[in-house]
Amino acid sequence: MSRTSLNALLTASGVGKSYTLGGQRVDVLKDIDLAVAPGCVTALVGHSGSGKSTLMHILGLLTKPDTGRVVLEGHDTHGLAGSALADLRRRRLGFVFQSYNLLPQHSALRNVLLPYTGRRREAEARARGLLERVGLGDRCEHRPSELSGGEQQRAALARALVNDPPLLLADEPTGNLDTENEALLLGLFRELADDGRGVLVVTHNQAVADAADVVHRLGRRTGLSAQGEALAAHKETKGRSRAATRSSREGEL
Ligand SMILES: Nc1ncnc2c1ncn2[C@@H]1O[C@H](COP(=O)(O)OP(=O)(O)O)[C@@H](O)[C@H]1O
Ligand SMILES: [Mg+2]
Repeated sequence: MSRTSLNALLTASGVGKSYTLGGQRVDVLKDIDLAVAPGCVTALVGHSGSGKSTLMHILGLLTKPDTGRVVLEGHDTHGLAGSALADLRRRRLGFVFQSYNLLPQHSALRNVLLPYTGRRREAEARARGLLERVGLGDRCEHRPSELSGGEQQRAALARALVNDPPLLLADEPTGNLDTENEALLLGLFRELADDGRGVLVVTHNQAVADAADVVHRLGRRTGLSAQGEALAAHKETKGRSRAATRSSREGEL
């Protein structure tokens, strides 16, 4: 077992997931092993339809895998009741959905506050601070429909951070961002990692993958079955050796 897995905040082992549509079985994920280490930005890349969002939902305890286990901070989540999973999600995980999932009837501020579990009198200042941190300090009262795609994406990120989770899972969080806001998010991910948190980010964006400490590539599935397709490979590195060792750290899942 690598040091990454031993120290990991989150590990997936042997994760598989299939969907059956129109009587046909589609194996989306097969035998995936992945670890998210604290202090690292980990990128997950792969072509469209390779199962990145499916894997993120499984890692984020939103979808149960058909096979395999997800262990969060040493706790095997298999078999936990829905309420226990919801509690773990709220307290230990920040999740940024690819489609943001902001509630349309609420302002950005209210959306950020919805999952908040801390002290009430600190709530609003915290939410405002996070919205400022993602460059939305002047958009607190806007509803999602009054925000651009990139602004909704950043509001969703602020919401994911409201309970100060040790682990952030973000599904293509820079998909709608300009270069300036992309740099802002990359800086934020780096700060979170430097603070000892784990960040797993799905991306199509080379700049985001380049800025990551570890890059996982989800393999192409071939037809409806992907026998032997999924290879696990995860390596770790940190800090200064990042750029120098990047090519050796990429692995296909
Ligand atoms: N609820 C579902 N029912 C059936 N097929 C699904 C479902 N969700 C995803 N899929 C299929 O699983 C594959 C992977 O989807 P997804 O995880 O969204 O990929 P990615 O995020 O890498 O683009 C796709 O072929 C998609 O059509
Ligand atoms: Mg996706």
